[in-house]
Amino acid sequence: MNIGAGKLRLGVNIDHVATVRNARGSSYPDPVRAALLAQTAGADGITAHLREDRRHIRDADITALMATLTVPLNFECAATEEMQSIALRHRPHAVCLVPEKREERTTEGGLDVASDIERLTDFITPLREAGCRVSMFIGHDPRQIEASARIGAAVVELHTGHYCDLHHEDRFAERDAELAALRDGARLAHSLGLEVHAGHGLTYDTVGPIAALPEVMELNIGHFLIGEAIFRGLGPALTEMRRVMDSARADAKPAR
Ligand code: PXP
Repeated sequence: MNIGAGKLRLGVNIDHVATVRNARGSSYPDPVRAALLAQTAGADGITAHLREDRRHIRDADITALMATLTVPLNFECAATEEMQSIALRHRPHAVCLVPEKREERTTEGGLDVASDIERLTDFITPLREAGCRVSMFIGHDPRQIEASARIGAAVVELHTGHYCDLHHEDRFAERDAELAALRDGARLAHSLGLEVHAGHGLTYDTVGPIAALPEVMELNIGHFLIGEAIFRGLGPALTEMRRVMDSARADAKPAR
């Protein structure tokens, strides 16, 4: 199969519009309005993470996103019974399972699929039957990739946060090693029939080498884009991300 030839999709994560709204207990800025603007500006999908503590996205935001978006919604959540029943009620295009700890500032690591095979197999079965594409947010560890294939996930999203941190800390040799591990992970996942996505912490400076990985079909980007929107506006911030992604992709060698 000729991979890397198709358009790389950009999913825009709108959680942090809700973070600003919730900081003042107001009704604005509205994350649904941001999602519609991102959609108009060329986002291929919208990602929203309903956390157990509802610190940013709320249940009503998911209802409104499902009612108004024309691009697919990627519903990000922890693998809990509550989130499963919310996902089954809405049947979004995709459900991305992430680890969640109350004390963390953001999703800090990947999901440990390998240690939870039986429970996760049972957990995702009704979601798959409801027509949702189930994605596992994991690190590049081959054990986690193989376990994701074993439980029947359609997609893995590889966690790029560590690679981005190393870049911004100027630890370039370690960054390059992390990038090589992500590349190997993407290859392995693709060879096992998994669709490969990537995300977390990506910026204009770090997105290029990830966009150039031919197995990667979708990037999910939020925090940087919402921050950049303060200076440029969300539409132009997104257009520039698209330009950087697409030019890195065009310069990369397609793999077979
Ligand atoms: N993908 C997943 C699974 C995430 O948890 C997040 C953060 O919510 C992102 C992508 C986007 O990361 P960032 O907001 O750092 O761009």
